[in-house]
Amino acid sequence: MDGQPEQIAEAVTRLRSGGLVAFPTETVYGLGADAQSDGAVRRVFEVKGRPAHNPLIVHVSGEAMAKSVAAEWPEDARKLAERFWPGPLSIVVPKRMSVPEIVTGGGPNVAVRCPSHPLTLALLEAFGGPLVGPSANVSGFVSPTTAEHVREAFDERDVFVLDGGACTGGIESTVVSVVGGKARVLRSGLIDAAVIGEVLGRAVECADSGVVSSLPSGSTPAEAPGQLSSHYAPKAKAVMVEVREVERVVAGVTGECVLITHVAEKDEPFPQPLPSGKGLQRHVIRMPADARGYARRLYAALREADAMHPELIVIVMPPDETKNPVWRAVRDRLKRATTRE
Ligand code: TXA
Ligand code: MG
Repeated sequence: MDGQPEQIAEAVTRLRSGGLVAFPTETVYGLGADAQSDGAVRRVFEVKGRPAHNPLIVHVSGEAMAKSVAAEWPEDARKLAERFWPGPLSIVVPKRMSVPEIVTGGGPNVAVRCPSHPLTLALLEAFGGPLVGPSANVSGFVSPTTAEHVREAFDERDVFVLDGGACTGGIESTVVSVVGGKARVLRSGLIDAAVIGEVLGRAVECADSGVVSSLPSGSTPAEAPGQLSSHYAPKAKAVMVEVREVERVVAGVTGECVLITHVAEKDEPFPQPLPSGKGLQRHVIRMPADARGYARRLYAALREADAMHPELIVIVMPPDETKNPVWRAVRDRLKRATTRE
């Protein structure tokens, strides 16, 4: 890519002076800052409007850098890093004292991840240290999967954007904790708990059923601090419904309505086009029917729907997650996108 070394040099200069740099990853864009600088990390919380108790993922160029922030690097972490890094897996381990408290929301553990986007790996190498990287969106809102999405959310004076094209994964990394000898998935993603279990040679608990109140007994929200029930949400009201309910739900909407559906048009059990209310339009966003394709498109689709300022966004319930684990992660994000608190 033309201008890449210059872009990286500029990004490193910004990071060294405590500035923020949005970087591309295979999942979503991250809002990067020097993980060892209290002030820089504070800026991330400010710019995003993120609650202080929600910890940040620390991005590293590989295992050696991960160990520079981890107080312990258990065998489980070693196996997972070896198998999945660089890739969409964040591993929670005990933190070193030197990691500022603000990074971990005051907690004793740190999530580390080595992303696989070449531009960001080059950035991490050039910067030579770990970078915090929450998704580069305003807290609670839909995550960004293009550089443009990031530019829409933040002033260029606050955030320098490294443009690495559209993200190929489309939803955030799987977060797995290996603290205390227990392996638990705290947030589902493209890497499934069952595959993690295979690598570790034992069953892995999955704590991300969608809402904090349904975490397994004995665990507290503080262990999965980011698992707020409302998240990844468009500004318009959104609901998720079974395909057979679409006609009834849409009929009740008097204003503009956007339908997000992965069902083939010929299989949809409602009239085409959908009956419109009082001359108002019904927009349809067609999604890929395969889980990975759907995940890749998801956040851009939610943004497109939102941009139409509808009264309601109606999302057809994706297939049962047992058929494909990626649907579990998609459903998790959709549950949060359609929850209001
Ligand atoms: O794919 C991703 O993970 C993206 C890209 C940019 O890497 N980042 C991302 O960051 O999604 P963020 O901040 O939007 O989500 C981080 C999630 C939150 O649910 C947070 O609570 C959890 O990871 N997390 C971070 N540190 C943690 C920790 N020490 N213990 C438990 N959960 C943690
Ligand atoms: Mg986020």
